[in-house]
Amino acid sequence: MQDLGFKKEITTVWSFPERGKWVTHNGSYRGNFAPQIPRNIILRYSNVGDTVLDPMVGSGTTLIETKLLNRKGIGFDINPDSVELAKNNLSFDSECKYEQIVKIGDVRKLDDIDDNSIDLIITHPPYLNIIKYSNGKIEGDLSNISDVRKFCDEFEKGIAELYRVLKEDKFCAILIGDTRKNGHYIPLSYYVMRLFLKQGFVLKEDIIKVQHNCKSTPYWEKQVEKYNFYLIMHEHLFIFRKPKKTENLTRLKYSSRLF
Ligand SMILES: C[S@@+](CC[C@H](N)C(=O)[O-])C[C@H]1O[C@@H](n2cnc3c(N)ncnc32)[C@H](O)[C@@H]1O
Repeated sequence: MQDLGFKKEITTVWSFPERGKWVTHNGSYRGNFAPQIPRNIILRYSNVGDTVLDPMVGSGTTLIETKLLNRKGIGFDINPDSVELAKNNLSFDSECKYEQIVKIGDVRKLDDIDDNSIDLIITHPPYLNIIKYSNGKIEGDLSNISDVRKFCDEFEKGIAELYRVLKEDKFCAILIGDTRKNGHYIPLSYYVMRLFLKQGFVLKEDIIKVQHNCKSTPYWEKQVEKYNFYLIMHEHLFIFRKPKKTENLTRLKYSSRLF
């Protein structure tokens, strides 16, 4: 395989001015992962042959990496067009011994997946309706929801499913950004983080991912002085762990819940 120019991350700030372009990776699906993100997570938190789930798989970035890194990949997306695109992006030759499965599905109802069966979850929800993936046409598409509370209520059902399907002592990584409404900051990522903690996950890492190449940046750069705000140029990559049933969480009190 070509030299990827890939380097494993070792700090809590990740910045990829050049997104990886190996095999079928490309940036044409709006808001998709730089492949360095799932690659780092897969290498750190899973082993060859493990089953990795991305329940909002979009263009398939996570599963391209599971295929390259010899893991079994399972991807769902509520949008049939995204499922087709992910399947196309996965149609390259490789020596992977494990299957990559992509299907239409809803993160809030992962009925096909058994309890405690997944070794690693990597996911990336819409950030409210900032990017609308189906323009209101698909029932259940979280990118149709503009109201923060409603978005959190719906996504909370998905978080319960992520908890159910993940094996104990394994990890769930989620990339999520914040937004601004009426000139004020909406910390969507922290609201979502609290829902994970409420569900029972514990926080392993909070990684700041620096944003690059965002299509709307040139427009907003011109507005910062006029409307007196700072352009949001980071997202949060939270890594949660599902604790063991038998685990004594007292020592993790402040990684799980303060309130
Ligand atoms: C930010 S994109 C994911 C991009 C992906 N990480 C990639 O690299 O291509 C969010 C995805 O969530 C999907 N989605 C929205 N609501 C969903 C739901 N309820 N269940 C499953 N997928 C959903 C959208 O169709 C969209 O593809």
